[in-house]
Amino acid sequence: MTQTPDEPVPGRVLELVRRAQRVCVLTGAGMSAESGVPTFRDVQVGLWERFDPAELATPRAWEEDPALVWSWYAWRAALVRGAEPNAGHAAVAEWQRRPGVELSVVTQNVDDLHERAGAQVLAHVHGSLFALRCGVCGSPSAAAYPEVAEPVDHLEPPTCEVCGAAVRPGVVWFGEALPEEEFFAAVQAAQDADLLVVVGTSGLVHPAATVPHLAGARGVPVLEINPQETAVSEAADVVWRTTAAQALPRIVAALPDR
Ligand code: OAD
Repeated sequence: MTQTPDEPVPGRVLELVRRAQRVCVLTGAGMSAESGVPTFRDVQVGLWERFDPAELATPRAWEEDPALVWSWYAWRAALVRGAEPNAGHAAVAEWQRRPGVELSVVTQNVDDLHERAGAQVLAHVHGSLFALRCGVCGSPSAAAYPEVAEPVDHLEPPTCEVCGAAVRPGVVWFGEALPEEEFFAAVQAAQDADLLVVVGTSGLVHPAATVPHLAGARGVPVLEINPQETAVSEAADVVWRTTAAQALPRIVAALPDR
């Protein structure tokens, strides 16, 4: 049952968060849901309704029709730009600033809301919407998405300043490998933590979904914050069936004073 604002932080949650000094927070699309950023699977409205996101977020779609894929990401970038970090993002940034606490943020989200809330992000394991790079030579690109007030289905992507090929979003597409450095940093942080907090992920997409299990296998206590049961729930020591913006500010408010 989702937390109501006046319910106290569950005792088992308090116990875990108050003694934690090396915290790893692993977030998914549910972290940004209260900012109004649609989760990956429900962004398809209006013009995009007839497209399957799992089809668009693929190297094949990019090969076949880069202008369509580029337009879709320009649309998603506009949605993110129009959103604000929520109280959950702010609480994670505040927790990270607490003296005596080393907090690593690992996110599957490609938005920049953790950063805009003031948090340092250790790893974007599925890449970043705004990290544009050349689709051929891989050079980072200083290009930007065009402002799209409403969905347009074909916009030519910018060209690479180095080789002239089309510039693509720096996100991981289905069938692509995760950025190795980011993924290993994420696993390391989760295994070195004395608390792993998993917020707003269905735990369905591997290998990111293995992180809570790898931490648990090392004896790291796992706290899940999610209104729904997920594939992570079985690996969690404590489950708090509530939302990111409800839980995280209450956790930070309950931490011992500086
Ligand atoms: P999903 O859309 O699969 O799952 C979102 C999770 O957030 C669900 O478990 C919801 O119950 C939960 N949720 C919804 N609102 C919430 C809230 N306010 N507070 C807390 N939790 C909430 O998103 P992800 O698990 O992040 O990959 O999906 C993982 C990956 O699937 C994405 O990174 C993307 C997609 O394929 C790539 O783009 C490579």
